[in-house]
Amino acid sequence: MAGTNYRNTYSRSLEQREDFWLEAAAAVAWSAEPSVALDASGAPLYRWFPDGMLNTSYNALDRHVEAGRGDQDALIYDSAMLGTKRSYSYSELTALVARFAGVLRSQGVGRGDRVVIYMPMIPEAAIAMLATARLGAVHSVVFGGFAPKELAARIADAGPAVIVTASGGIEPSRRVEYLPAVDEALALAGVGGLPVIVKDREGFAAGVADYAGWTDWDAAMEHADPAAPVDVAAADPLYILYTSGTTGTPKGVVRDNGGHAVALSWTMKNIYDVGPGDVMWTASDVGWVVGHSYIVYGPLLAGATTVLYEGKPVGTPDAGAFWRVVQDHRVNVLFTAPTALRAIRKADPGAGELARYDTSSLRTLFAAGERLDTETYKWAGEALGVPVVDHWWQTETGWAICANPRGLDDLPFKPGSPTVPMPGFALSVVDGAGAPVDPGEEGNIVLGLPLPPGTLTTLWQNDDRYVSSYLAAFEGSYATGDSGYQDADGYVFVMGRTDDIINVAGHRLSTGAIEQVIASHPAVAECAVIGVADPLKGQRASGYVVLKAGADRDEAELVRELVALVRRDIGPVADFKHATVVQALPKTRSGKILRKTMRQIADGDDYILPSTIEDPDVIGQLLGVLRPGGAA
Ligand code: COA
Ligand code: AMP
Repeated sequence: MAGTNYRNTYSRSLEQREDFWLEAAAAVAWSAEPSVALDASGAPLYRWFPDGMLNTSYNALDRHVEAGRGDQDALIYDSAMLGTKRSYSYSELTALVARFAGVLRSQGVGRGDRVVIYMPMIPEAAIAMLATARLGAVHSVVFGGFAPKELAARIADAGPAVIVTASGGIEPSRRVEYLPAVDEALALAGVGGLPVIVKDREGFAAGVADYAGWTDWDAAMEHADPAAPVDVAAADPLYILYTSGTTGTPKGVVRDNGGHAVALSWTMKNIYDVGPGDVMWTASDVGWVVGHSYIVYGPLLAGATTVLYEGKPVGTPDAGAFWRVVQDHRVNVLFTAPTALRAIRKADPGAGELARYDTSSLRTLFAAGERLDTETYKWAGEALGVPVVDHWWQTETGWAICANPRGLDDLPFKPGSPTVPMPGFALSVVDGAGAPVDPGEEGNIVLGLPLPPGTLTTLWQNDDRYVSSYLAAFEGSYATGDSGYQDADGYVFVMGRTDDIINVAGHRLSTGAIEQVIASHPAVAECAVIGVADPLKGQRASGYVVLKAGADRDEAELVRELVALVRRDIGPVADFKHATVVQALPKTRSGKILRKTMRQIADGDDYILPSTIEDPDVIGQLLGVLRPGGAA
């Protein structure tokens, strides 16, 4: 009967937690087997597999070579930007990672040290991550679309021993020069002398030779001695990944080694149904959590082949790019963001491009990063003729909170729902006071503690912020920051964030951070940034600005300056292009800007003015601006 396997597995994960996760831990090669699953002595901070020792890089690489699969493809690099392809077998990738670990070691990197990686989608990005893990060090990958200031904030917080970068990334319209950005970020962070290793690429204005003291990747690799995997405690950090919080300061999500390896191994088999020899392609970027989990670690831990794609869904060269990659590499499982599917559908609604390729290898399409709208869900399912699995997760959780676990069961799909909670996630929907709401009723989605292995263990060197950001609002639970409901069958529907985080083209952004940049403009008295619905990117950031008294500025010119400022201080990834000058912003009597009401008006949703509003007339003045041509 459909669902029995899932239901039994889910309830066992919560009722017999120790047994469940110790059994799952058998999928990992330990240098010291864990004898217990959970250490709750530091609650609400938990440690998984407290007496286990392992090395994640060994589990992702050497282990498969030792098992006789050294000749199998581990990683296929496909660059639609350059028109090139290259495969790395498990043996080759292991040798390169060991060698680059030797390079890092010669730069002084050891267990527990941090390595900041600022790289485009090239194999060296994955090699640098795995090499860091090999030394028991901690990587922090920063997405290439972030500006120097954002990179600097991450460098300052992580305190790395080394930076690894490349000459740049390739966007359809331009080359993105990384080296001047790294140089500026180091200066901003006040760590100008830090060692920098550069993978030189052709076609960029600046190269490693332009920066005195920086190390050339290729030259260093020639002389390096390979480094062996270093055993670490399961609870030792594997990586820090910074993500947007509600303030301008990013949160350094910390992932451990042991829980991560166990959880991802479980997901590969049970959620993605991917095993040794299968090909998984996650069309994301190593700068995001999806890239960490399913471009690099998940497929390699499972002994599968991962595809690392440098390109876009459309325009590189056309809307058939994804289907070409599926055909060329016989991809079995594709994972992408709904925005990419919407971009393809917009360019090729009749899926004519798809018909040009043989995509018969494809078994399943997974989507995450934002809500998968029903239209896109149906279009993709009909065009590809394979199940389309929406699954819901966050940088913090590292793997899906809710999914339709394809390797475990055959659960029916419900459009608009990422299906059901995954093992270990004690999900409930509660009202503002923490009381459970009825099925079908919307509320805050919370997860009972402890969270399962593989989720964040804390924020980097900031336990207090971890507790106050996630654990303080609802006693005994982790607040996901998402609202939604669970229907009578237990299916979860995720409706949107309850905080000031927005999702633009699958990229998570803080409106607070954008507001902070806009407020730094000398003509701006105050501002509000909200995420308004966008048919392609899901949401887009829209700014509403009140000028200082006497600031007589041409609006179009001011908007150009604000757009340039956000691009300079946050980066092109913020995709900030819309700002409007308004007379006043709607506020409560205590001075809180009513962003949610503004967003509801802009999206054409129903809204109720809070009784605490300071001046209801301000909303009246804003109606035409927020909802052009629209009445209340
Ligand atoms: N380095 C530097 N700049 C980058 C970048 C990177 N790695 N990634 C994006 N940018 C730039 C883009 O060039 C663009 O710059 P522009 O303003 O000069 O045009 C800007 O950031 C906005 O990028 P984006 O929002 O991605 O829009 P786009 O028009 O370039 O592409 C999509 C639209 C839908 C094709 C694209 O957003 C996409 O593929 N999204 C999928 C996102 C994803 O995989 N998310 C991971 C979560 S699963
Ligand atoms: P990130 O940390 O960048 O992965 O963003 C996490 C946020 O993206 C979540 O809190 C959700 O708001 C949103 N999100 C991710 N996946 C989904 C999904 N499948 N459905 C709805 N929202 C999603």
